[in-house]
Amino acid sequence: MKVNKIAVVGSGYVGLVAAACFAELGYSVVCVDNDLERVAALNRGEVPIHEQFLPELLERHRNHRLHFSGSLAEAVQSCSIIFVAVGTPPKDNGEADLSYVESVAREIAQNINGYKVIVEKSTVPVYTSNWIRRVMLLTAQAECEFDVVSNPEFLREGTAVTDFLYPDRIVVGADTPRAAKILRDLYSPLTSGSYYGSLDKIPEPDGITGPPPMIVTTAKSAELIKHASNAFLAMKISFINAVANICEEVGADIEQVAEGVGSDSRIGPRFLRAGIGYGGSCFPKDVAAFRAVALECGYEFGLLDEVMKINETQRQRFMKKIRTALWTLKGKKLGVLGLAFKGRTDDIRESPAIALVEELVAEGACVTAYDPAAMTRAQEALGTRIKFAESISQAAEGADALLILTDWDEFASLDLSQIRKQLRYPIVLDGRNLYSLEEMEAHGLMYVSVGRRASALKQLAKVG
Ligand code: UDX
Ligand code: UDX
Repeated sequence: MKVNKIAVVGSGYVGLVAAACFAELGYSVVCVDNDLERVAALNRGEVPIHEQFLPELLERHRNHRLHFSGSLAEAVQSCSIIFVAVGTPPKDNGEADLSYVESVAREIAQNINGYKVIVEKSTVPVYTSNWIRRVMLLTAQAECEFDVVSNPEFLREGTAVTDFLYPDRIVVGADTPRAAKILRDLYSPLTSGSYYGSLDKIPEPDGITGPPPMIVTTAKSAELIKHASNAFLAMKISFINAVANICEEVGADIEQVAEGVGSDSRIGPRFLRAGIGYGGSCFPKDVAAFRAVALECGYEFGLLDEVMKINETQRQRFMKKIRTALWTLKGKKLGVLGLAFKGRTDDIRESPAIALVEELVAEGACVTAYDPAAMTRAQEALGTRIKFAESISQAAEGADALLILTDWDEFASLDLSQIRKQLRYPIVLDGRNLYSLEEMEAHGLMYVSVGRRASALKQLAKVG
């Protein structure tokens, strides 16, 4: 079967990027969403999320190879490959809520008009492919021919487009040779390297060594690869955060320790940045969901409990540092840099920065915050509980302390002399370790970070 038209259901962070990238690879794509306002905005040319290279891709392909629609029925009838990228939010017990996935499967079955490949792109628990198959068989009126494939997406927000086009690997969990072949053909512009030879390709990130391998597995294995990958990365972060806490106790420096540990090629340097814990729409949800999947299978995956516990404690420890540095919080004026769950995105889902700001406000602090991209979303979440600044400088002006809560590039190159002048107390609390202690101290700033020496606090005691 020659691939010519693809449907992508869901135009969120995952679906929209996948749709734009498939168009970039030369396919005709219809991206479907049941949020009709979102569809209208996309059709008007708006770009609903902050993502590098996404505006360029939408501009390039909208109304040519890429169309947006509110009709799943039409998309099903006109496409033989249907990617499902709708949300899988967490339920109270940690399990993933798969009701959106189920309703999409039902609608596909109601409109099926020939062989279809239904591809899970959303992160879903193992066995979801079986459930989709079951729903399809129970719903379809007549006998229908279809395959369900798991093709997990490993993109990170902020670098989603390049992660999609230059992936480490492509995982395809297909239980029939027919479906595996279709997915192999679909990704051939990447696996053969032909896309990388095109003149107007999206520029490759550093460190790319060649076309990505495709790993073909069963659907269940692919579902597990995704959950296990996210859980492992979250574990790496919690591990280094736990080590950071020991560093603080013994007077070692986590940046030096992480460099030493990460230089072992078996461990690797990435995802060893200590801080205020992981957030976002994936790690918190997926670790909890993987834990729930294991439990359902009768396996007590206590390691994941600990990963979640360390992550939560990490934020509380930072909160304690703020209290220690400022003594009382009631009425204190705090400048906050960063609200997104990490730099280069406008996403605030499960953002540790937002959680900290909420706690600070609850304790009576007056927060003025700035984020390069997440202000609108943060305003929706925090309303009038805090003030929003239009610049870094406005957030710092007259503050009793400056808090760095998100690792935006612009926060790593602050004009420290200017900041020193603007702050009422020369205190910087950095939850992302963006500076060296020496640099901060050279500018006369008391610097409190994560997993590094606490001499700043002693100096602060003298000032106080
Ligand atoms: C989500 C999950 O969070 C992630 O784990 C999964 O891998 C993919 O789906 P994301 O793209 O960030 O990721 O979700 P979100 O931004 O919430 O987008 C989902 C989109 O699907 C929304 O635009 C929503 O309107 C749409 N949707 C939802 C449908 O079109 N149909 C539905 O039935 C439900
Ligand atoms: C993650 C996975 O990396 C990606 O493969 C998957 O498809 C979706 O989930 P994302 O949530 O976009 O991507 O961001 P990521 O860069 O993984 O960061 C997640 C969180 O961990 C952020 O809050 C980030 O600040 C934090 N983090 C990351 C650390 O605290 N330390 C690190 O070393 C790395």
